[in-house]
Amino acid sequence: MNPWNEVPYADYERHMSHETVGQLALLNEITGEKVAQRYPQTVAVYGACTGNGFTHFVDAQTVYAVDLNPTYLAICQDRYDPILNRLIPVQADINQEPVAIPPDSVDLLICHLFLEYVDLERAFASFRQVLRPGGLLNVVLQRSNDTGWVSNTGVTTLRPVAAIASEVSDEALRQHAAPDLRFDGSQTYRMPNGKSLIAYDFIKASEPPQTDEDDADDWLEWDR
Ligand SMILES: C[S@@+](CC[C@H](N)C(=O)[O-])C[C@H]1O[C@@H](n2cnc3c(N)ncnc32)[C@H](O)[C@@H]1O
Repeated sequence: MNPWNEVPYADYERHMSHETVGQLALLNEITGEKVAQRYPQTVAVYGACTGNGFTHFVDAQTVYAVDLNPTYLAICQDRYDPILNRLIPVQADINQEPVAIPPDSVDLLICHLFLEYVDLERAFASFRQVLRPGGLLNVVLQRSNDTGWVSNTGVTTLRPVAAIASEVSDEALRQHAAPDLRFDGSQTYRMPNGKSLIAYDFIKASEPPQTDEDDADDWLEWDR
């Protein structure tokens, strides 16, 4: 059983919006920025949880909410189905099952604090499959900066998920994105608890991958 199935949604939201964590508000804001940049018709959110940021999708035609936890998806649907054009919950454990989203259909794929818990090979295979050429993948990763994975907010039910979390390095992200998901910038946010969040953008190439030399040039941008 994946420990994410055992975390009560109210505990998750309480922890993430605690004043020392403050992550829900920032992730919501980043989602809003990406929507304002791309005006997507089709959005997919991997690790959608209870739908943080979904208020930004009111102008999209279709929104896919992907998560393994059926309770989170039910809450997401209760909250956002009334205001969205078409909200499709996709319950899947990405480590074991395919994600039922039509290939080459997604304009904007939001992936916030998700890669730390999943098989990167499988996740990126799914991103490649569902993103349309020219579509944007927005990834947010956490950097603990030696503060421990889960901050002490009094919520103890999140401890089991900390045990399966692993920090995703820039190098691992680069390797899994190359060659066809092209790095398009990143931004680092310092959080009140000493952790950082880093948001990365990748664009799915419309053309066949470039030569190795060209790819190497793209990645020089990563040196921050
Ligand atoms: C840290 S939360 C994501 C936070 C959310 N994106 C936000 O903005 O608040 C991670 C989410 O990924 C989901 N998840 C973890 N492992 C998964 C897997 N193998 N397949 C599908 N969903 C998974 C969890 O159920 C949880 O909702």
